[in-house]
Parts: sequence; C-alpha cells; structure tokens
Amino acid sequence: MIINLSDINSLVGDWMSEIRDEVVQADRMRFRRNLERLGEVTAYEISKTLMYTDKEVETPLGTANCGVIKHQPVLGTILRAGLAMHQGLVNYFDKADHAYISAYRKHNRDGSFEISLEYVSCPPLDDKVLILSDPMLATGASLVKTIDHLMSFGKPSHIHIVTAIACTIGIEYVQRNADANISIWAGDIDDELTAKGYIVPGLGDAGDLAFGTK
Ligand code: URA
Repeated sequence: MIINLSDINSLVGDWMSEIRDEVVQADRMRFRRNLERLGEVTAYEISKTLMYTDKEVETPLGTANCGVIKHQPVLGTILRAGLAMHQGLVNYFDKADHAYISAYRKHNRDGSFEISLEYVSCPPLDDKVLILSDPMLATGASLVKTIDHLMSFGKPSHIHIVTAIACTIGIEYVQRNADANISIWAGDIDDELTAKGYIVPGLGDAGDLAFGTK
C-alpha cells in the first residue's frame, strides 16, 4: 500500500514546497524541521493502525481509564539522512525502541553502485510493527537490502516506510522484492530517476542538505 501524505493532510504540500525549494533549503535547520514535521504527521497517521488497550491510572482525585498503545512499535532509521524524520516519529512514539542502520551507496567507476551496510543496531523484531524512515525512496535498493538484513532480528508483523519523496520505480522495486507486509507513506511521489539514481524533480541530496559535508 502506498499513501501520498499530501492527499490526507493539507499542510504537507506547503512543507514539501519548502523541502524541495533550493532557496529555502539553504536554511538547514528549517530543512530538518520540515522533515521532522513530516515524521510527526506520519506518526499520527500510523498511530491509527496500532492496537490499543485500556489502562487504569490513579489521578490525585480518583481513577481514570485511558487508551494506551498495546505494543510499542520499533522506530528504525537509515543513517544519516533519516535522522530528522526519525526525530518526528520519536516525538510521538516516545516509548519505542530504536534501530539504526548505516546504508550508503558505494559508487563504481562505471556509474553503477552497490549498497553497503555498516553499523546496524536493532532490537528483536518478531511480531513488532517496524517504522523505518528514509527521506528518499529512489531505486529502493538500500531499503530492500536494509529490510533483508533486519529480518535476521525477527520478522515484523508490518513495516511502515516513511519517506519525503518516493519514486515510482523505487516503490515498485520495494513492493516486488521486500519479503514483508509493507505500507509506504510518502510526502510526495515523483516519476523520474537520473542515471545516478537521484529523484527528479526530487530535492537533491537529503543527507547533505540536512547535515552538510558537500
Ligand atoms: N538520495 C537522495 O538524497 N536524493 C535522491 O534523489 C536519491 C537518493
């Protein structure tokens, strides 16, 4: 299932216009905050799909019945570009366990690239809901490699992929190749990729825009 967040939240189009705009992108803090806001509204939407249970709590004046999340999700993110969206998810799911995965493109001389996974830290995933943030779903190769690897920590009941821009080619690749129940939540969907695997019109390099180093 693919959900375009712009269709269900009227503010997302406004934030996407800033995230994509090369003039506004110069404000690195605003770029990160907009990604964080996307993470927050996606957390809210995903929260509607979780299971809840009643919990009695003692207030200073009596007993109240509250609906609380039955099983906390696991929040995973692909370093480093996913960190700002991850923070948005953490703002809502503040009791969740976290997974961090460093996945990057190792470019070959001929312009092709392979995905290299390095640092991976992940709690047990069996029957958990995993929410995985990566702002750019371009070819889908790093997400599929990451999901394959994370399966060694257990099979999640569902994986929610949270992304700012998803490319149709990458969406199809993930849907064909990831061995899991998956929903993809995207701020926007674009149709083109450059030969180097950048999304067009996209936004550029999300990691560099959020954290520099170019
Ligand atoms: N990663 C990015 O940061 N941008 C793209 O367009 C594709 C992958």
